[in-house]
Amino acid sequence: MKVGVIGAGTMGSGIAQAFAQCAEVETVYLCDIKEEFAEGGFNKIKGGLDKRVAKGKMEQAAADAITNKIKTGLNTICVDADLIVEAALENMEIKKNCFKELQDNIVKNPDCIFASNTSSLSITEIGSGLSKPVIGMHFFNPAPVMKLVEVIAGINTPVEVVDKVKEISVALGKTPVQVNEAAGFVVNRILVPMINEGICVYAAGVSDIEGIDNAMKLGCNHPMGPLELGDFIGLDIVLAIMDVIYAETGDSKYRACPLLRKMVRGKRLGCKTGIGFYNYA
Ligand code: CAA
Repeated sequence: MKVGVIGAGTMGSGIAQAFAQCAEVETVYLCDIKEEFAEGGFNKIKGGLDKRVAKGKMEQAAADAITNKIKTGLNTICVDADLIVEAALENMEIKKNCFKELQDNIVKNPDCIFASNTSSLSITEIGSGLSKPVIGMHFFNPAPVMKLVEVIAGINTPVEVVDKVKEISVALGKTPVQVNEAAGFVVNRILVPMINEGICVYAAGVSDIEGIDNAMKLGCNHPMGPLELGDFIGLDIVLAIMDVIYAETGDSKYRACPLLRKMVRGKRLGCKTGIGFYNYA
């Protein structure tokens, strides 16, 4: 199987690695709007694998086998892809244009499946006006490690495509959970309001940053506290998901905390900008 991953950011590069680790995948095309962005994603994967080799957790040959499958470039290299997983910016127009270009001008394989890793946008809307159906194939950060894939069917996604994507998820060593289209799907509908509430609790002065995170880690056995997890996901992504769920449901319980919005406006996005609730510099 040949897989094209569109977008070489945190999620795209993690998804590319997850596919390259799968025996049934022969090639992964890791693409972005500039070749250097795609190469940056590749270097991130290679850096992570090099660390595992240095720690004695992986053989060099196994790491090489993964990186040798990954080819980087612009979307135009996906000509013979069997599956496209789009992990571009969380912007409806960008996603729609990207699929249109792939379906109409680039991918020549008539059986190619077109999937989006969107974390909250409507799959039906992404697919509207396109010649081929789109499905949601939602991975979790870090994608090579996390076991879940949410498989989201839009109203026009054929059952055969849903079944095939579930099958591919199992081949990747993941567990697919089929989800009906709804803002935030299952995980983000529950997780992101919890992170938002963690920020509200902090803004209200109930406890400090470490106190809130320790409370949820030790009191609920969560691997990361809500503020640490918000920094890890990216506070811009957390805000975008809150805004989509609020806009789609109109329910005030999904209103983003003003402190979250302020931090995003101030580019305090978490790990990726070096500062969020914690300092990563
Ligand atoms: N890429 C590849 N592998 C990674 C990795 C990465 N970015 N980060 C960690 N790992 C691997 C490590 O190499 C290690 O593997 P081994 O056990 O084979 O050595 C394993 O994961 C555990 O890592 P660590 O020992 O370094 O650290 P940890 O035990 O603290 O686990 C964690 C790290 C897996 C990130 C854990 O803290 C965790 O599960 N956090 C919660 C993550 C979470 O909730 N993700 C979902 C976010 S929501 C989302 O993604 C959806 C969305 O749309 C916003």
